[in-house]
Amino acid sequence: MRSHIALLRLLAAALLAVAVAGEYFKPFNVSYDHRAIIIDGHRRMLISAGIHYPRATPQMWPDLIAKSKEGGADVIQTYVFWSGHEPVKGKYYFEGRYDLVKFVKLVGSNGLYLHLRIGPYVCAEWNFGGFPVWLRDVPGIEFRTDNEPFKDEMQRFVKKIVELMREENLFSWQGGPIIMLQIENEYGDIEGAYGQQGKDYVRWAAKMAVGLGAGVPWVMCKQVDAPEFILDACNGYYCDSFIPNSKKKPMLWTENWDGWYTTWGGALPHRPVEDLAFAVARFFQRGGSFQNYYMYFGGTNFGRTSGGPNYITSYDYDAPLDEYGLLSQPKWGHLKDLHAAIKLCEPALVAADSPQYMKLGPQQEAHVYRGNITQGLNTAFSKSKSVCAAFLANIDEHTAADVKFLGQVYTLPPWSVSILPDCRHVAYSTAKVGAQTSIKLVDLNSLPSKMYVPQRLTFEEEVTYIANDWVTWKEPIGLWGKNNFTSPSILEHLNVTKDKSDYLWYTTRIYISDDEMSFWEENEVSPELSIDSMRDVVRIFINGELSGSKRGHWIKVVQPVQLVQGYNDIVLLSETVGLQNYGAFLEKDGAGFKGRIKLTNSKIGDIDLTESSWTYQVGLKGELLKLYTREKAESVRWKKLMPDATPTIFSWYKTYFDAPGGTDPVVLNLGSMGKGQAWVNGHHIGRYWDLVAPKDGCGTCDYRGAYSSDKCTTNCGKPTQIWYHVPRSWLKSNQNLLVMFEETGGNPFKITINTISTQSVCGQVSETHYPPLHMWWHPEFTNGKISMNDITPELHLQCEDAHTISSIEFASYGTPQGNCQNLLKGNCHAPNSLSIVSQACQGRNSCSIAVSNAVFGDPCRGIVKTLAVEAVCSPSAFSGSASM
Ligand code: GAL
Repeated sequence: MRSHIALLRLLAAALLAVAVAGEYFKPFNVSYDHRAIIIDGHRRMLISAGIHYPRATPQMWPDLIAKSKEGGADVIQTYVFWSGHEPVKGKYYFEGRYDLVKFVKLVGSNGLYLHLRIGPYVCAEWNFGGFPVWLRDVPGIEFRTDNEPFKDEMQRFVKKIVELMREENLFSWQGGPIIMLQIENEYGDIEGAYGQQGKDYVRWAAKMAVGLGAGVPWVMCKQVDAPEFILDACNGYYCDSFIPNSKKKPMLWTENWDGWYTTWGGALPHRPVEDLAFAVARFFQRGGSFQNYYMYFGGTNFGRTSGGPNYITSYDYDAPLDEYGLLSQPKWGHLKDLHAAIKLCEPALVAADSPQYMKLGPQQEAHVYRGNITQGLNTAFSKSKSVCAAFLANIDEHTAADVKFLGQVYTLPPWSVSILPDCRHVAYSTAKVGAQTSIKLVDLNSLPSKMYVPQRLTFEEEVTYIANDWVTWKEPIGLWGKNNFTSPSILEHLNVTKDKSDYLWYTTRIYISDDEMSFWEENEVSPELSIDSMRDVVRIFINGELSGSKRGHWIKVVQPVQLVQGYNDIVLLSETVGLQNYGAFLEKDGAGFKGRIKLTNSKIGDIDLTESSWTYQVGLKGELLKLYTREKAESVRWKKLMPDATPTIFSWYKTYFDAPGGTDPVVLNLGSMGKGQAWVNGHHIGRYWDLVAPKDGCGTCDYRGAYSSDKCTTNCGKPTQIWYHVPRSWLKSNQNLLVMFEETGGNPFKITINTISTQSVCGQVSETHYPPLHMWWHPEFTNGKISMNDITPELHLQCEDAHTISSIEFASYGTPQGNCQNLLKGNCHAPNSLSIVSQACQGRNSCSIAVSNAVFGDPCRGIVKTLAVEAVCSPSAFSGSASM
């Protein structure tokens, strides 16, 4: 009897354990050996997709995660953003875009794992590298070194996150998705600056993290001295030659930079997918086992979250999912194929302890993975099966090479890896893109239900503006409220603003005598205001008028000014555009002015204003009043703005607008504006700025050869960013409040609201392309009944969700030329191409067409034929138009 009760108790305890465990997976352990991360006892080859949750809205998360999974990701990776979770010391925030638990649960419910990089320093082009700005004010603090106040704060936050995850049962051993964590971030880059203290800090951080008992491995990236019990990992454009700091650790790649970030006034970086795929394939070829795309989805730096110096609001990153969550093609598709090919190799990759290396030529090499597997075999009798997978690389940047491998000849394109999941047939080549290209367009007809016809603006026809009713309110220059204070010195910007606003007004008064005026007149010189060093923007006002503005990163400013006899008011507006997020001694970096502020060319030499009496005012009056919210928008007396009004600086603008119908992502075109910030229904959509990228530097782009962020840029000579994402969930169908704060005199009448969508998709696949990857899993292939050579390649086209192929603009089976939106028939063309493709595709969301004579007939014997198609995608059904 007793034993029965004990048994029942045990059973009840077991049931309880299951009940409290996460509902996503059967609880599993995570460990590792020299070859791979081991999940539930099995080595795994893992593809990870970087998505930063606050760079999207919770409404976007499910789609982003689903598209990552469909693209072949096993893992989602994110940083944790301390500044968002603890905006005020001791007051935590885990809601809205910062609902970390919700995000992690969504990852789990999609059957994906999660790599949580707590940092809490994260870099990430995020304001102040993710540190809350109040951290600077902790007495005696020095960041990221062996400093007690810092370590206390860091430990408190990291512990808070680990405990939160544990309470929510989100670790793998609880049945949750979290398989790996990260402490610190690329500390190795700056460790040298801290001497012995830096080394002690690394050991402390590692021990502290592991001591929290999270029960999954911790990573330190770019940390050659990571202790034995912490994984070290590589970050970069290429990581195939990375060697972990211990023979017991696997080769991990926490950040594969698949694009790059952008600064105001910069061009837009693009990383060619052939090179990206090459880097990934090389990594797995040479023993890699975990690879994360930084970013798989970059998203948007909403509000004032973008880091610095001077990072733009978009964090598109040229990632496989664009800023709005739409597929960036062919990047997404070519990587999806790559992931499928790697997965085909996984049994062999994990079975072998290390690859066999074979030199195939001067710049050609193979790595072969062989082993025996027992797992997953459906033949009950066979004890094991031998598996073999091979990667053939040609690292020659210029020419293709014919190589002989295991008795067969293969032609390897330049700068490519060919993947042979059976050591015989090529399933994938990084240099041969079979995935479709997509052309995204801003739909200029994506109108709100109302047609706004601008009355006086005739310069662009057929452009519809967001509104023709605008009101304006002038922001005061200089002091505007009682909450100012005076100090006999130049105070450091962040010490005063605490980063509550980008703006800090410094005002002082100076007396100019008659004598001084005559001196300037007689000598034909004018006084200059000089600031030793300044970041990011300063605007200099004399007696209420703007004398000049300068922007830069710790630059000297010399501004000629016009003074009058008697008292002169000098107002300096210091502006930050994203705080520093990288480097040692961040807490000392500060913002605003450094050194001395002087008036030069005076009769008595320089007049030093540094120790004058300066009065400080933080932020804008409109910010304090919260003019951008529905509740407070009416707290000032707005004036009607006339379309022909002279542009004014430092003005607030307000209007109401209707949302475009449908479900496509919504963007504002702020190309007519200067610099400022914008809010929709109280949501801060980010900073905007009209800085233009340099005219030169956007040459043609060749995927071959090592990538660097300035290799393949676009948008030269154009404003860096004009489109600003307004997430759908922030909009209602009508009467949306748009408020802008404009510094330099932009024209709100020319703002447009549009939707963005994939409007054309193009594919180009030849008869000799590889068979579709899914065929490798076909039972007839696995049991040897059909051979790879019998399978025809396919061209696959797909519109975004809720869109269908409405027409086929071009189709030619033969020898077509050109590329998407510029396809032309060649000498050889099957006349039935258009009708066959139209029949297969029109009216569908996606379609596949076999590329062979069997489908089209043979239009030219003995010549390799290609099928090229361009299709137009349209919304499947226009759902719910905005009402008037
Ligand atoms: C890395 C850093 C990331 C990000 C990246 C550039 O060095 O770890 O957080 O800043 O550079 O996008």
